[in-house]
Amino acid sequence: MKIEVTPTENINAEITLPGDKSISHRALIIGSLAEGETKIHNFLSSEDTLSTLNILNSIGASIKQISEDEVIVEGKGKDNFIEPSNVLNAKNSGTTMRLMMGVLSAQNFYSVITGDDSLRERPMKRVIDPLSKMGGRFFARKNGEFAPITILGTKDISPIVYKTPVASAQVKSAILLAALYAKGETQVIEPAKSRDHTERMLKYFGADITQKDTTVVIQGLTKNLEGREFFVPGDLSSASFFIVAALITKNSTLLIKNVGINPTRTGILSVLKMMGADIKIINEKTLNNEPVGDLLVKSSSLKGVEIKGEMIPLIIDEIPILAIAATQAKGKTTIKDAKELRYKETDRIRAITRELKKLGIDILEKEDGFDIIGNQKIRGNCTCESYNDHRIAMSLAIAGLIADNPIEIDNFECVNISFPEFTEIFEKIRSI
Ligand code: S3P
Repeated sequence: MKIEVTPTENINAEITLPGDKSISHRALIIGSLAEGETKIHNFLSSEDTLSTLNILNSIGASIKQISEDEVIVEGKGKDNFIEPSNVLNAKNSGTTMRLMMGVLSAQNFYSVITGDDSLRERPMKRVIDPLSKMGGRFFARKNGEFAPITILGTKDISPIVYKTPVASAQVKSAILLAALYAKGETQVIEPAKSRDHTERMLKYFGADITQKDTTVVIQGLTKNLEGREFFVPGDLSSASFFIVAALITKNSTLLIKNVGINPTRTGILSVLKMMGADIKIINEKTLNNEPVGDLLVKSSSLKGVEIKGEMIPLIIDEIPILAIAATQAKGKTTIKDAKELRYKETDRIRAITRELKKLGIDILEKEDGFDIIGNQKIRGNCTCESYNDHRIAMSLAIAGLIADNPIEIDNFECVNISFPEFTEIFEKIRSI
């Protein structure tokens, strides 16, 4: 599907967003491992989260979607999964594949997991290595590093002390999920802090887990986790597209209600504030161990920044939309230490550089990031490519709001991976 985006004057709206993607995946998995009912409200029903739901049901979980955003998980406890009768397909979802590898490595059965063209080229050794040390056995394509992956699970999973080579919430979470089955204490030490939704949710469901700086300590379960009522906060990564839209269009005010503001995710708000953004967090509260608030955003004059090091994992999914903000900031914006972007749904450094160049922006590609010269006009009048990457597609749509001419974006349907309601909300904020 190709869309055309035309420029807009300003944005004045109040919106609420679908549930957080990372948290929705985890609520399905942890709810299925628990005993008793878990009712999930504001669940994100998107292609990625439905991959997790379908895989869990294929290994004997009982998950029913009772409305667009409500799901009931009849938790049977961690020891009641069954061998799947077919290959499991995580499609485009790295979170599904990596977190489920953690669960599958601790089952007494054989399973095979695969994904789409993009996911089959994403690195899996980072998960296979620690899970193999814990006792799981894996066979994978291209020297044991890429999906399809065969998993010979074991009920004899061992605890581990593991230093992850990259700060990755998916790797950390795979280890923590396997560690629930181990006897004794597992520690995961990261080079920098990544999002901690798994840790918070496991604690909320009754696990013995503590976090200090970049170390997580978890005890193997001696009794099952307990099902819980769960409200998924709005997705801050999805909110970021509209936050930047309001910042870079003139005379705009946007209120986004009930968004997750977990400190391991609010890097984007810190960076935008460093750039001079007028963003206020109001009505803060805590829901099922996750902080939530409303965001009030006003048009702002931005200035360039340099972002690197430990900040990168905290803004990893927001770098494409940050690049759009950088085109409108005074001075240069530099992103460094972000080589991980090359291993996402597409090589995002290459995709951002190519598409921004098409739009007439002065951007320099580096191995681990890019430099963008700010205060530039977005020329438009061209067809951009999404690379079937939802976050690239949505970032380009926001660029279209301030372009001199319309922009066409090819393969826009990939937004359904994380945000099926994007187009509806995008149209709504333009027309009020
Ligand atoms: C996610 C973690 C991040 C992020 C992805 C979702 C998660 O990946 O990019 O969109 O839900 O754990 P890494 O932690 O592997 O960098």
